[in-house]
Order: sequence, then C-alpha cells, then structure tokens
Amino acid sequence: MRSLTLAALFTGASAFLISSAFAAGFFHSVKDPATKKECGACHMVYPPALLPARSWEKIVGDLSNHFGEDASLPDPVRANILAYLTQNAGDSGQTNSWFMRGVRDNVVPPRITEMPFWRGIHGGFSPASFKRPGVKKRGNCLGCHS
Ligand code: HEC
Ligand code: HEC
Repeated sequence: MRSLTLAALFTGASAFLISSAFAAGFFHSVKDPATKKECGACHMVYPPALLPARSWEKIVGDLSNHFGEDASLPDPVRANILAYLTQNAGDSGQTNSWFMRGVRDNVVPPRITEMPFWRGIHGGFSPASFKRPGVKKRGNCLGCHS
C-alpha cells in the first residue's frame, strides 16, 4: 500500500528530480558555514529545499520563540542564514520543488513534518517508530535516513 503511494508520487516528470534530491548525502548537503554551525547546534541541519521560503522567513524571524527554545542570533548572522535558506528554498527554483507538492499558496507550513509530502509518506508510520532510540523525534530525519 505504501509502495503504491510512493510509486504514484514518483511517476511523471519529477521522477528525475526526486532521485537527484535523494542523491547520496542529501541530508548532509548544507554547506553554508553559518547555517551549519548555528542551525546544527541542537538538531540536524535541515536542507533548505524541505520548506518554502515563507516558512524559513517565519522560523528565522522568530528564533527567540523557536519551538519552545531560545535560538536567537545576532542580526548579521541571522540575516545571512535567512538569505541562504530562502535562496535555496523548495520554491526558489534553485532546488527540488517536489517537496512543495500540495502546499497551498495561503499556508505557511510551520515545520517540515507538517508538509503534505512528509505527511503523505510518513503519516501511516506507527507512533512507536518515531520513539525508537536513535530517532526520538519526527524531525530527526537522520535517525532513519542517511
Ligand atoms: C537552542 C536549540 C536550537 C537551535 C540553535 C535551533 N533549533 Fe531548530 N528546533 C529546536 C527544537 C527544540 C525543535 C523542535 C523539535 C521537536 O520537538 O520536534 C526545532 C525544530 C526545528 C524545525 C522543525 C523540524 C520538524 O520537526 O519539522 C526546523 C525547520 C528548525 N528547527 C530549523 C532551525 C533553524 C533554521 C535553525 C538556525 C537558525 C535552528 N533550527 C536552530 C531547537 C533549536
Ligand atoms: C521513523 C523513521 C523516519 C524518520 C524520522 C523520517 N523518515 Fe523519511 N522515510 C522513512 C521511510 C521508512 C521511508 C520509505 C518509505 C517507503 O519506502 O515506503 C521514508 C521516505 C522518505 C522520503 C521519500 C523518498 C525516499 O527516500 O524513500 C522522503 C522525501 C523522506 N522520507 C523525507 C524525510 C524527512 C525530510 C524527514 C525529517 C523531517 C524524514 N523523512 C524523517 C522513515 C523516516
């Protein structure tokens, strides 16, 4: 059933884009030094293609209230990170737009794990699969993907 859904997602013109997005190392693909350092301090560094620019604007615009933590940064650093994330966002035209499927124009997804593509693939997984040691959180992609 799940492979049927994935097969449906993977057919058509974007098949090439999907495989290139999942080239080895996709989850380690962020090279921008400030983003790697500051946004990798508490969790994995998320590739910018996983969210639209407006979501990065919202997240990086409110770092003092970041999912219950204070992740604030001095302004020049913050502005550089925001520029990197938005320039390479999923709707920037620079990266894989497959992740943007199903996102309505008037919606600002608050996190990757609320993106329609993510829910479409992982929504049927048991809650226990996210609680395993080494995973712990839905947003810990690297717990399951390398
Ligand atoms: C002080 C620690 C800390 C820092 C620094 C930090 N984060 Fe986070 N981040 C968190 C926590 C805590 C969560 C929520 C994890 C959970 O409970 O699911 C989170 C979640 C996220 C999510 C949502 C993941 C999902 O579940 O879909 C994104 C995106 C994100 N952070 C981006 C960033 C970016 C971009 C930066 C750098 C500007 C950053 N974070 C820096 C602590 C931090
Ligand atoms: C609990 C483990 C787990 C976590 C955590 C997880 N995934 Fe997955 N993900 C999977 C599995 C398993 C599949 C393959 C599903 C299948 O083949 O039926 C998958 C498939 C995918 C796919 C489809 C392409 C592929 O490689 O098969 C994408 C894209 C994806 N995940 C992105 C993410 C992102 C982004 C995150 C973090 C925000 C994440 N996943 C977190 C287990 C996980």
